[in-house]
Amino acid sequence: EVEQIDERFEDSFAIGAAVEPFQLEGESAEILKYHYNSLVAENAMKPMYIQPEEGEFYWEDADKIVDFAKANDMYLRYHTLIWHSQTADWFFLDEEGNPMVEETDPEKRAENKELLLERLETHVRTIVERYKEDVDAWDVVNEVVDDNGEMRNSPWYQITGTDYIKVAFETAREVAGEDAMLYINDYNNEVAGAKRDTFYNLVKDLLDEGVPIDGVGLQSHIQLGWPTIEETRESIQQYADLGVDVQITELDVSIYGWPPSGEYNTEDEIPYSVLEEQANRYEELFDLYEEMDEEISNVTFWGIADNHTWLDDRAEEYSDDGLGKDAPFVFDTQYHVKPAYYAMMDIKDPR
Ligand code: G3I
Repeated sequence: EVEQIDERFEDSFAIGAAVEPFQLEGESAEILKYHYNSLVAENAMKPMYIQPEEGEFYWEDADKIVDFAKANDMYLRYHTLIWHSQTADWFFLDEEGNPMVEETDPEKRAENKELLLERLETHVRTIVERYKEDVDAWDVVNEVVDDNGEMRNSPWYQITGTDYIKVAFETAREVAGEDAMLYINDYNNEVAGAKRDTFYNLVKDLLDEGVPIDGVGLQSHIQLGWPTIEETRESIQQYADLGVDVQITELDVSIYGWPPSGEYNTEDEIPYSVLEEQANRYEELFDLYEEMDEEISNVTFWGIADNHTWLDDRAEEYSDDGLGKDAPFVFDTQYHVKPAYYAMMDIKDPR
């Protein structure tokens, strides 16, 4: 038996994994119970699954994840109340069924904005009411800044400006209460550049306006050589200086660059040297997280083991023969520990 990851980092932060409901049984469930003390849904709590039609809420899959977390005394993150992606189209259609974004009449645009914010409020209110006793951290909005450093030009933004962000946080606060922890979550905000700057300024401005944000989620979909540890340190410090909590919300370390070459078709083709490079990466990363553990309350992986990762879809998409396999975690496809596990844990690899 190897040492438990959550126990190893017990004094520093919770250790989480993103899951699909089917992973709550069998071997993956055993790994979850043994090594992790925090849980998040990889897809099941996103807007399109929770409210596929207006007023029709689907709780079954989300409930399974909530129940597993409760039964095993795990911290629970809710991902995500509001997003531009994986959100059903009905949100953005006016009462005649026309896309709100296409409306040009100012009066009708104002009505649409009001309608959309009402829908947002109902969505947030209904979910938070149901799970407020169970959820420890809420991703209230996700990925509201675009890669180019502009606000993401989603229907939410086109129709309401940044008001949707404020209403989402205010509603969540009102329903969940003062003790609830509310997060603004994004990717590449642990990387220096225009996106990080915009995101930082947005968080600062919203806090100045009194929007109830408790923390920032750094997704951390990273690679072997990118970004630098220094950039990530700066990011964590930057948000800590704003007085908000930091969580690492979707950690995975791709073995590929960008775009992913997808050159390895199976796990067995991945050279040991690549796994060693990944181990070094995990070591420096967790050294940083531990060094800054006062600022960080949770480190969540975007999956459990290499047999199930969204990065495989990405590797396949870009690989020449459409087969590419990625291997971003510290467990391999058979749930065996990888060199990255020992490096992250700071224990000698016995092999
Ligand atoms: O549910 C359908 C299924 O019925 C259908 O047969 C199948 C065929 O492709 O698709 C299934 O939906 C997929 C869904 O995941 C559930 O498995 C979608 O195609 C697929 O696009 C979707 O991908 C998810 C992605 O978000 C969507 O943007 C990934 O699993 C999920 O890991 C990923 O997670 C995001 C975070 O929420 C936000 N940050 C980035 C992160 C990685 O992209």
